[in-house]
Amino acid sequence: MTDLAGKHFVLGLSGGIACYKAAELCRALIKQGATVQVVMTQAAGQFITPVTMQALSNRPVFGSHDVSGFDAREANGMPHINLSREADAIIVAPCSADFMAKLLHGRADDLLSLMCLARPIGQVPLLLAPAMNREMWAHPATQRNMAQLTADGATILGVGSGFQACGETGDGRMLEPPELLEDIVAFFQPKVLAGRRVLVTAGPTWESIDPVRGITNLSSGKMGFAIARAAREAGAEVTLVAGPVHLPTPRGVRRIDVQSARDMLAATLPCAEQSDVFVATAAVADWRPASTAGEKIKKDGSGHMPQLQFTENPDILATVAQSPRGASGALFCVGFAAESHDLEAHARAKRVRKGVPLLVGNIGPATFGADDNALLLVDAQGTRELARATKLELARKLIAEISTRTGAGA
Ligand code: C5P
Repeated sequence: MTDLAGKHFVLGLSGGIACYKAAELCRALIKQGATVQVVMTQAAGQFITPVTMQALSNRPVFGSHDVSGFDAREANGMPHINLSREADAIIVAPCSADFMAKLLHGRADDLLSLMCLARPIGQVPLLLAPAMNREMWAHPATQRNMAQLTADGATILGVGSGFQACGETGDGRMLEPPELLEDIVAFFQPKVLAGRRVLVTAGPTWESIDPVRGITNLSSGKMGFAIARAAREAGAEVTLVAGPVHLPTPRGVRRIDVQSARDMLAATLPCAEQSDVFVATAAVADWRPASTAGEKIKKDGSGHMPQLQFTENPDILATVAQSPRGASGALFCVGFAAESHDLEAHARAKRVRKGVPLLVGNIGPATFGADDNALLLVDAQGTRELARATKLELARKLIAEISTRTGAGA
């Protein structure tokens, strides 16, 4: 998938050790289909060479050799005008504390700051990826500058936390290139769920038999994680209740890890009270052992497995859908059905049984663990197919559907 196909960026580098991450960001943007024009400050040239950035972007770098902003390579000598007008966004990564202060005052004594000032504010977004020592980050001047830059129309992409090149540990590291990429991709998605609160369950559950064994299933959680990501991209505030899976948390999503179906229910119910949309993608175990042995159950030499008693698990989706908030429609509930055959008939029946306005069917064995899927949307009016695509593409389509059905995008 090329999420940034057709997009053109100015990638600006100001001086900071995080310049080494800008090389990877440049590659990542290009891999997603974008074209990139690199512009460097003179200070950035202390940390990474224009040769590296030229090779990665496949374009000569501007700014580094002529800090005044004039450049004979442009016929009119005005790269600050030409380059800023053809960009879909200017991304400054790393954005140093000093460069922020400069932007704040509208100073323009090098090509990059000149270009930021000269950009048509309404058409060319300015995305800043700060990078600095934790004390510089926490300083009231930096915090004040960021608030003002945001008010002036810039988007601050946030910072990471952890070990810093200076040897100190704290906030202020530049985000990693994959994190920046995720935020940049999200920036361009339509904000069809802006301000909405979305709750997603994902992954399998784990029902313990004894301290070392349990019952689970093949759900990878990928579809639910993609939906959480797509909801966040659409501007929602997202909580993801995840069973045991090995997936990174989508950027900007609050994640609650759980094990059993009962844990999942306990985590979900209070969040559902605060949410506008609930998407239940979790493959919740229908049954759990009636009791969990405190010690590992040993073979007794009889050749027979010990008899286990099972108890039915709570149905999280049905419980939420039938709660006052779900039943009144204040919380829009979406269920999933993973079937092996007769998808449409089973999905229709399940929608009614669960009491949800929208149920999404998919063929379980064909999609478990995969990065793509095909969906069948079932509502009271009928069905609609979403053809095979990556889970993220399908998740975005589903979010658009939910937005339309809840009137959120209106
Ligand atoms: O009944 P079945 O498991 O096929 O239903 C699937 C749908 O119900 C999914 O949306 C799933 O997340 C949800 N579910 C649930 N709690 C259960 C069983 C299923 O939320 N105990």
